[in-house]
Amino acid sequence: MASQDKPSGQMLWGGRFTGGLDPLMVQYNESIYFDKALYKQDILGSIAFARANAKSGIISQDEFVKIEAGLREVEKEWAAGTFKIVPGVDEDIHTANERRLGELIGKDVAGKLHTGRSRNEQIATDMRMWLRDEMRRIEAHLVAFLRVVVRRAEQEIDYVMPGYTHLQRAQPIRWSHWMLSHGFAFASDLDRLREVIRRVNRSPLGCGALAGNPFGIDRDMMAEELGFDGLLWNSMGGVGDRDFVAEFLQWGAMLMQHVSRWAEDLIIYSSAEFGFVRLADAYSTGSSLMPQKKNPDSLELLRGKSGRAFGHMAGFMMTQKGLPTTYNKDLQESLEPMLDHAKTVSDSIQIAEGVLATLATRPDRMKAALDPFMLATDVADYLVRKGVPFRETHHISGRCVALSEQTGVPMNELSYEQLKGIDARFEEDIAESFDYEKSVEMRAARGGTSKSSVLEQIKVMKAMLG
Ligand code: ARG
Repeated sequence: MASQDKPSGQMLWGGRFTGGLDPLMVQYNESIYFDKALYKQDILGSIAFARANAKSGIISQDEFVKIEAGLREVEKEWAAGTFKIVPGVDEDIHTANERRLGELIGKDVAGKLHTGRSRNEQIATDMRMWLRDEMRRIEAHLVAFLRVVVRRAEQEIDYVMPGYTHLQRAQPIRWSHWMLSHGFAFASDLDRLREVIRRVNRSPLGCGALAGNPFGIDRDMMAEELGFDGLLWNSMGGVGDRDFVAEFLQWGAMLMQHVSRWAEDLIIYSSAEFGFVRLADAYSTGSSLMPQKKNPDSLELLRGKSGRAFGHMAGFMMTQKGLPTTYNKDLQESLEPMLDHAKTVSDSIQIAEGVLATLATRPDRMKAALDPFMLATDVADYLVRKGVPFRETHHISGRCVALSEQTGVPMNELSYEQLKGIDARFEEDIAESFDYEKSVEMRAARGGTSKSSVLEQIKVMKAMLG
């Protein structure tokens, strides 16, 4: 159904259109209700563009001054919340700002702003500026989170707890070692983030609709004014590329995967059965039915939101796949995932930081969960040091485990005679192997769980935070 009361002639691009748009098509097409998030970047980009056009002489200095003053007014209206979107006319942030500029300074001058420019380069510019700034904020949140990891790892280095594989008790580790194990995954995220920012922060402005700018615009000058690190070197690529969004989504999907695994560990460790940690009230909620409940909602949301992050990434990869060269309207579908993803990731890191900073640890419960069987490897290693091949010692230690299971006597309480009976090479100093602290301290090679190794990890991580 074509609506005749909204002639396309009102639209920025209305010149060649005679019929009206289906009202649903108007809504379907417009992006103003979400791309208004980029109002500031759009205005700064327009000012830089007008300044460069004044430099090349395509508009006069006087016209530039009027345009800049008008755009600053428009910016103020957005900031104050008084900008009035004209439904059905303000298709996107670019057209809305230009329409308002015309009202403020007159269409004769305002109409010159878009000389040689396309919304294709505008939206790419706006999005890259917005994302670059947002990623820098996310970087700061990630660093803050990792600083908490480092601080706690230093303070709580003496807590020894069970380390798990397959979620089965495996070997004793330091609590700090566990924190740093996740910490290094996040530190890699930080590394990747910094790298992605470099690729995001390149300027498409001056690329035109696809073929470039016909008025000799100074792209470097605009890029510098807008804080870009450099240019995108191909105008067609510059307007058609949303790999920078895809990379951000991929980056965040990986980060959220790490967040969800970290959260899952803490959910387990905070259960009554484990009780290694207790979540602060600020990050948990109660049950509407069961008065005794304290639920780790923060951690569950962190785990749950990872699905949303992966979804945005997969969804947008599909949107981009198979698109013909340069700009296609499909690319408008990159903005909402980008905005939502940035919020999800940014909020998640801040919540994770809050959870960790306020988490109560219970070293007594960690210690109580240690089990002599977790020292079976140490028993095998003891015999290795006496010259017995490991394959053999593994078997001998296994027989000690079996005897302990059969007799119900904990492995560290088996008598010297019992052990000697299993293998004559056991000597009295075997008693020293049944010591969790010692077990941990034995793992002193770099990257292990001994105190010196953990301290070295802390040092390495501090250096990564810069
Ligand atoms: N709102 C559009 C977007 O986000 C702006 C670019 C429009 N370009 C065009 N050729 N229709 O992609």
